[in-house]
Amino acid sequence: MISRRGLMLGGIGTGLLSALPTAIGQVPASFDTLPPTAPMKRISLSARETDVHLLGPDKPATRRFCAYDGAPFKIFRFERGTRLAVDFRNELPHPTTVHWHGIRVPNLSDGVAPLTQEVIRPGGSFSYNVPLPDGGFYFFHPHCDETGQVGRGLFALLVVDDAEERKVRFDAECFIVVKDWRLGPDGQWIDMSTDEGAATAGTFGNVRATNGSIIPPRVEVPAFGDVRVRTIVADATRVIDLGTDHEEAALIAIDGQAMLPPAVIDHLPDGIWRMGPAMRADMQVRMPGPGQEVKVFDYRSGEPYLLTTLVAVDKGLKKTPFKPKALPASTAPQPDVARAKPLNFLLQVSAGPTIVSPELPPDDPLAKALTDSLCVGAKTHWAISRDSWSTGEALRLPPPLARLDAGTTYRISCTNVTKHVHPMHLHGHVFRVLSSSKKKGMPQYLADTVIVEPNETVDFAFKATSGNWVFHCHILEHMDTGLMGWFRVA
Ligand code: C2O
Ligand code: CU
Repeated sequence: MISRRGLMLGGIGTGLLSALPTAIGQVPASFDTLPPTAPMKRISLSARETDVHLLGPDKPATRRFCAYDGAPFKIFRFERGTRLAVDFRNELPHPTTVHWHGIRVPNLSDGVAPLTQEVIRPGGSFSYNVPLPDGGFYFFHPHCDETGQVGRGLFALLVVDDAEERKVRFDAECFIVVKDWRLGPDGQWIDMSTDEGAATAGTFGNVRATNGSIIPPRVEVPAFGDVRVRTIVADATRVIDLGTDHEEAALIAIDGQAMLPPAVIDHLPDGIWRMGPAMRADMQVRMPGPGQEVKVFDYRSGEPYLLTTLVAVDKGLKKTPFKPKALPASTAPQPDVARAKPLNFLLQVSAGPTIVSPELPPDDPLAKALTDSLCVGAKTHWAISRDSWSTGEALRLPPPLARLDAGTTYRISCTNVTKHVHPMHLHGHVFRVLSSSKKKGMPQYLADTVIVEPNETVDFAFKATSGNWVFHCHILEHMDTGLMGWFRVA
């Protein structure tokens, strides 16, 4: 155990980190997903605070909104096969990191403190090596105090375009970013997390919004055209049931990977696609004639919540029969399901709230510094197979959930024995969702995040890539309070 005095003298930088198990030094030989000859693009990126009018132009601006480059809802677009050299600068008054969600990056660029890097302190910087080996729809966000930072807007969309995919034609594209806010009537932030929320379904926003607007957007698109609607749940908590009031709509990609064959949404169970935090879905919507509208809803809310209205305008297109479009197959490594090794995990409630450091009250500045540098919450409500990231003695990185062999396929059976939904995300891999104990006849598909419902077992398989990769619930308060573990793959 480190003494308080030692910490004070050494500072968090040396005292604490040298006492931590130095996972960083033990990362298995890193694996790069693009050849060294891949074209490189250097970009600078910052995280900073800014003022944004979230309640409307005539309402008070929300101060301390967090955004990459100070630009809310920024969309980054690059060509598949590019390597990004990202010079990141932390201009926030808090520690942060950047995680490239769904992108198969080398482990040291995965942005998970303290597993793959140390936190980036205010004013600090970090260089990320971000190869883009697969086309698709992704995003990036901090992996430190996610509840607080993503809650205040810190994320950006990342679209990786691909020449093959461009051969599949669309007449328009539109984005639906589901992200609610927690605001007081004065437009200023209220607490992002409550104990009650963290221990149940998560703390919901009290102001709903699409693309940052509390008025659902209306987007003009060509009548009789095929619109590619890319939806992401960037919210920390909300789970939506995505659907439309129109029959000619198909799911064509999930988490950026082609859905093959595409699935007509009305033919899916309940005519919806359920999406939790971090999940993305690309839909093809065939527009009706001029003047008509297609409404995209979240049907999970008591009253269906209108996310966006597509308005058909005459652009000279003629009516043709609707045909769902197959996008080119994912270029990510595919699991060898027939030879998969089984792994079983339980998603559980933890024994009870435990503070990170039993000797320090959570509001003690030192306890705060410890949780900041470990990027964990001060409480524990959840566990994966009895282990919680933040339980037990204070300065502990939990042991890995399992040690895996690189190149081997694993089949995870994940059983949720809690009363709440958990969208589970595995870093560094694209996996194949194989089956669910509840949704019989569900199509198989590729994803990086999968919902596990209460009393459900979901099986998914992936080919392991070397690195230390976290596996966690993407309801951010759940991950911050214990629903996170990691795999060591070597
Ligand atoms: Cu999008 Cu570990 O997260
Ligand atoms: Cu969860």
